[in-house]
Order: sequence, then structure tokens, then C-alpha cells
Amino acid sequence: DEAELHARIAAAKETLGERLVILGHFYQRDEVVRYADFVGDSFQLANAALTRPDAETIVFCGVHFMAETADILAREEQRVILPNLAAGCSMADMADEASVEACWEQLVARFGTEPDADGRVPVIPVTYMNSSAALKAFCGRNGGIVCTSSNARTVLEWAFERGQRVLFFPDQHLGRNTAKAMGVPLEEMPMWNPRKELGGNSPEQLDDARVILWHGFCSVHKRFTTAQIDAAREEHPGVRVIVHPECPMPVVDAADETGSTDYIRRAVAEAAPGSVLAIGTEINLVNRLAAEHPDKTVFCLDPVICPCSTMYRIHPGYLAWVLDGLVEGEVRNEITVDEHVARDARVALERMLAALP
Ligand code: 13P
Ligand code: SF4
Repeated sequence: DEAELHARIAAAKETLGERLVILGHFYQRDEVVRYADFVGDSFQLANAALTRPDAETIVFCGVHFMAETADILAREEQRVILPNLAAGCSMADMADEASVEACWEQLVARFGTEPDADGRVPVIPVTYMNSSAALKAFCGRNGGIVCTSSNARTVLEWAFERGQRVLFFPDQHLGRNTAKAMGVPLEEMPMWNPRKELGGNSPEQLDDARVILWHGFCSVHKRFTTAQIDAAREEHPGVRVIVHPECPMPVVDAADETGSTDYIRRAVAEAAPGSVLAIGTEINLVNRLAAEHPDKTVFCLDPVICPCSTMYRIHPGYLAWVLDGLVEGEVRNEITVDEHVARDARVALERMLAALP
């Protein structure tokens, strides 16, 4: 039961002390967040792994690609644990290495790899943090970079300086919303369907492309609609609508603001008392913000509860189980990225860190 789990987790944390650091993503349920030493968005948590080089174990309460990233950035001697190995990300799974390699081969066959007169190569691959370590490594090997939802614009600026086109995966929405905000016309953002020759595009469409979008999406953020925004404005005139950039373009266009989970957290925290905010992101974060700010009205745009089902797989029972293991000297659910993959992936992650102001 809950009290028993709490006692086990608290006792293990006490015993392990500074040797342990627990990271939690904003989408984790409250019963898990309460044990986290750091809570943040995917970018902040990647950095948090770096800020505790003294901890021998990082327990990552988030999803698989986040734990992989922590392992890539962590020191050799540090280990990373994902309490439930079934906590993946359906969006990350939408871009597999073989399909991206096959796409890349076709792009290289068409455009070659030689830079133009301005020194810009034909295509720069950009992967969203929500992707496997193998794809981050692919970007590292091929002149590419990683982005998160908090820095996608800066990263795309970096890529446009160095390339004539960008291949952006896996999230079509983050790619489209960010490039559109930078002034790229929709006609210059073809989609790549891996089941079709040239991704289902004509050669001319690819010639003219600025951003080639992979067909991935987040099943949580895809649910938000402009009708929900209309309804919120009808019911609460003056409401501030803030959505995550993984939402479809019409939703982002209709919202007042768009930003990462940490942007949303800050916007709510900094809003004046009495403010009314409608949020388009995962429900655990929205409910927590609402509870933390009782002087404001904070609600989710989607009236039907929409948790990220894979984030939700980190149940406190799994956390207790991996911590018990550590106390007994047994490492459970370790996530390890092969060094030859990690080395290339680190190149792409370090390019991201270096591109930021
Ligand atoms: P951020 O934490 O970067 O905003 O991303 C949200 C998300 O969907 C993580 O999977
Ligand atoms: Fe993946 Fe969407 Fe869940 Fe984030 S919210 S982990 S993108 S499925």
C-alpha cells in the first residue's frame, strides 16, 4: 500500500544519500515527483544529470530516451536506471534508425554532400530529443544536431546557417510550428513518408524544401483542438491559452503562447493572481500547476483526462523496487548506451549545448 511504499522509498533514499540522484520529468505523477531531487523539462533534466557527477546512480523517472540521454552525458562510472523499462515514448518509436538511414541515402543520392558557394551543405539532420540514442548518433555522424522543445528555434537557426535544408525528425509538429514561426512557408516543408519513394514527394518538392518533416507525432498533444480553445474562450473571456509545440499547427496558431513544459510552468508561476490559464499539455503537469497556484484558475484544454500513458508507467512501486535493489547491491533496470553509439550521440548533444546563448 501507499504508506508501505513511502516508507521503503524514504528509507532507501536515506541509506543511499548523496550516492543517489532521482530525476523526474514534469509529466510524472505527484506520487513520484515528491521523491525527485530535480524536476524539469527534458532539457533541464539532461543538464541535471551533469550537475551531479558525484552521484553514482541516476534514477530517471521519465521515459526511455531521457534515461539514454542521461547515460550518454553522465560520467563513465555513473549508472542510469529507468524504474520501468516499458516506459517508452510512442513518438520516439516513430523514427527508427533503418528508415532514417534509408531516407538519408535517397537525399544524398539526390543532393550529394558537397557544400554550396556559401559553404552550406545540402541537408542537415536535426533530431528532437525525443528519439533513440541511435538517431542522436546518426546526427552526430552526419553533421547534425539535437534540439528540445525549449530550444528548437535556436537549433534551427544553427542548422539554416550551415545547410540548405533540414531533415527534422521525429515530430512533424514541433518542426512545422518552429519553422513556420521563423517565416518558412508551408510549401517549403514537405513531409517524408518512409513507406514511399522520395518520401512521397516529387524531386522538385525536395529541391525547394527548407525543412523536410518526418511523419511522427505525440499522441497526447495531437488530441488538442481549436474547438477546445474556442470553448475555453467562450467560457472564460480573457483566458490566456498556452500550448506545447508538439500540438498541431492550427492549435498553436490559435493559442496565445507556445512553449516547453518549463515555459508553461514559469508562465503560470509568473501570472498575476486571479489569472485564468488554459493549458494544452499533459494532465499531470497541468493538475500540479493548478494545485500549486490556488490563487489562479489553471485548467487543461482537453476535458477528457489525457495522461502520457508511458510516463505513467513509472509507478512508485517500481521506484521502490529499483531503490530496494540498490540498497541490497543489485542494479535493476539499468539503461546503457553502447560507447560507439554514445560517442556520436554526444557530438550531436554537445552541438546543441554549444549553439545555445
Ligand atoms: P519538454 O519537457 O521538453 O517540454 O517535452 C515534453 C515531452 O513531451 C517530453 O516527452
Ligand atoms: Fe512521448 Fe508525447 Fe509522452 Fe512526451 S508526452 S513522452 S512526446 S508520448
